[in-house]
Amino acid sequence: MALPAEAGGFVGVADVSPKRPLCFLLLGPPGAGKGTQSAIIARKTGVARISTGEMLRDAIARKTPLGEQAAPLMDHGNLVPDSLLVALIDERVTHPDCTNGLLLDGFPRTVRQAEALDQLVRDRGMELVVMNFDVPREVLLRRLSGRRWCPSCQATYHLESSPSKKEGVCDTCGSALIQRADDRENVVAKRLEAYEAQTIPVIEHYVKRVAVHRVDGYRDVSDVFAEILPFLQGEKAS
Ligand code: AP5
Repeated sequence: MALPAEAGGFVGVADVSPKRPLCFLLLGPPGAGKGTQSAIIARKTGVARISTGEMLRDAIARKTPLGEQAAPLMDHGNLVPDSLLVALIDERVTHPDCTNGLLLDGFPRTVRQAEALDQLVRDRGMELVVMNFDVPREVLLRRLSGRRWCPSCQATYHLESSPSKKEGVCDTCGSALIQRADDRENVVAKRLEAYEAQTIPVIEHYVKRVAVHRVDGYRDVSDVFAEILPFLQGEKAS
């Protein structure tokens, strides 16, 4: 996948695949529920889930060169450069699980990333389906301040809406839960600013090209999933 213009190089749903492999995008602000839904979708359908936030946090934990570059940017609520993200996706889509389709959570976040993805979608003959999560700002703030996260397996909880069975302990792997560094109040404000400045234009980019489906994300997790499922099954046209 090549970045457009001046920068350097990017895009089925497994057993729910309709005619062409899907490139299924979950867009929306921080805390909108993209990660929660993408984890459920991947579990229920087997589609290859690509969460750039998780991949970057994993790189940081492993202290890779990518992680070293990304950490200070993420800690301050800034985006990681397009060239690094496009290279990350480029490599990830070569894995065999991506043959039948992709579920992208957190990518693209800039117009340049979207343009690179457009090329990948064309090259692979994929069908692009775009879901845009809409959640009121005060709800986003509550969700992010109450989120707890497992640094070992990246499972996500919420102190009120989805607490772990044992307080402060991950249900899946037993590790101690923490608050993500970028969920601190001042960093959240910066992330929301970055979203408005750099990712709202991505939605505008797609509105001109394909149907963008608004998802009311301020509902129960299961209701949000029920709204998305028909699009994954190709029952609703994009
Ligand atoms: P990333 O991890 O992608 O963060 P984000 O997009 O800001 O999204 P979040 O993970 O904060 O929220 P979410 O929508 O996934 O919500 P969740 O399901 O967890 O990226 C982090 C950073 O990495 C970025 O700031 C940037 O620096 C960098 N980065 C990543 N991708 C990049 C890219 N492409 N380009 C450049 N930089 C990039 O839910 C939140 C909370 O709410 C949870 O506690 C959950 O339990 C709860 N919740 C979820 N759904 C519901 C519901 N329906 N009802 C009640 N509670 C709910």
